[in-house]
Amino acid sequence: PINEPVYDYGVGTKERDNLKSALKDVLSKKVEIALIIGGKEIKTENTVDIRCPHQHDIVLGQYYQAGKEEIKLAIESAMNAKKNWAKIDFQERAAIFLKAAELLSTKYRYLMNATTMLSISKNVFQAEIDCVCELIDFLRFNVKFAEKIYEDQPISPKGFWNRMQYRPLEGFVFAVPPFNFVSISGNLPTAPVIMGNVSIWKPASSAVYPSYLFMKILQEAGLPDGVINFVPAKGSTIGDLVFSSREFAGLHFTGSYETFNYMWKTIANNISNYITYPRIVGETGGKDFIFAHNSANVKSLIAAIIRGSFEYQGQKCSAVSRVYIPKLMFNSFKDEFLNELSKIKMGSPEDFTNFMNAVIDRESFDKIKSYIDYAINSNEASILFGGKCDDSVGYFVEPTVIVTENPHFKTMEEEIFGPVVTFYPYDDNKFEETLYLCDKTSIYGLTGAIFAQDRNAINIATEVLESSAGNFYINDKPTGAVVGQQPFGGARASGTNDKAGSLLNLIRWTSARSVKETF
Ligand code: ALA
Repeated sequence: PINEPVYDYGVGTKERDNLKSALKDVLSKKVEIALIIGGKEIKTENTVDIRCPHQHDIVLGQYYQAGKEEIKLAIESAMNAKKNWAKIDFQERAAIFLKAAELLSTKYRYLMNATTMLSISKNVFQAEIDCVCELIDFLRFNVKFAEKIYEDQPISPKGFWNRMQYRPLEGFVFAVPPFNFVSISGNLPTAPVIMGNVSIWKPASSAVYPSYLFMKILQEAGLPDGVINFVPAKGSTIGDLVFSSREFAGLHFTGSYETFNYMWKTIANNISNYITYPRIVGETGGKDFIFAHNSANVKSLIAAIIRGSFEYQGQKCSAVSRVYIPKLMFNSFKDEFLNELSKIKMGSPEDFTNFMNAVIDRESFDKIKSYIDYAINSNEASILFGGKCDDSVGYFVEPTVIVTENPHFKTMEEEIFGPVVTFYPYDDNKFEETLYLCDKTSIYGLTGAIFAQDRNAINIATEVLESSAGNFYINDKPTGAVVGQQPFGGARASGTNDKAGSLLNLIRWTSARSVKETF
């Protein structure tokens, strides 16, 4: 496959008109989002309002939350669907996901973008590359990776036939995505299912709307009932039931380090109850960096810092949140950097000229604000730009740049998940020393970038930072990995590094049987 092309929604395009009218549609009606269990829509007593982060008095609709009964039913439905699904020929299974990709690319492109823009506050470009392009890429490329896995067969000497049977796991897979990428939300349940598994999908509470739309698209594409069960629920309620279920066989997770650790421990405590050792695949946080050498191209460095730190309000696990820059360069770079920062527009995603929108919810807003306040009140840091937060209409946080001389300052070490980046200007003659410092500063190992024109500096950085980032970029921002081009994921506290959007991920969802036949 090739990557899905990114549409241009510029002034005067028909794509822009289509998207504008989809935005109007989404705003003019109130959606009601049911659970989808065993292919049926189910409503419960518990409803939650879906609000726009950029204007929290706008209610887009409501979703129903599952209780214990519905969660049990979802597990039962998945296990009932399992037998048939695993037996269906791979090509027939694949056709469903390829059809879903086609529907996303054509019939539902604008609606998907509109719900994503409004409900998780993405600008048009950020929505398009996520809920349309990356989600489509996951589906098409995963089919390709699965094909490759199935093709791989052992050799057979004369008189024997050896073969590998790529069976699904013995049980169901629990898919728990984050709010920040609809593509990840869709990938977590579907990647295991392409490999013949069934799944329970608990979408993030703030990303239920576009996730539900994708679930409906999968159904329209022919996904049999019960193969994926869409179950919005409180994390603790669903976690307790899933992890104590005998048939739990896999976790496909993206979210926080703390939640993943909690899940892993819960799974460990239940380990003797399961039919099989569960596969645990998780991508967690990051404390991602840009490291500039004094040979760096300043223009591209500035663009990378601004895009890497502030696109989608810094709410990407890959977002730049610490910058190492030589002192001399920092002094000469500041004016141009500040000038570019002052051009950033922030506001509603309905205004396509806004580069930034709101952060996801009050909890995030409060957390980000507390980091900014900490820096404002500290005598170890200063605010170079931004720092203001305003939640009166929506959850808006200014793009904020902190500067510190303490390489272990709190905002240099902890994941903030918002539009806040901290600079550590280093002594010009301490390039290599500071690389080691960068490597040791964070528990995470997700993404990072070196900016240098000097080949020797690039080589040294690439070597010293070998384990600091599972996705390492040379002269580019460390966000925006493309499926099929930069398989994504990190190790250390950033996860199991099973590289989303690659064969390495898909291979985790099969439990192969090796068969030897003697003639
Ligand atoms: N895969 C996303 C990125 O690379 C998180 O930015």
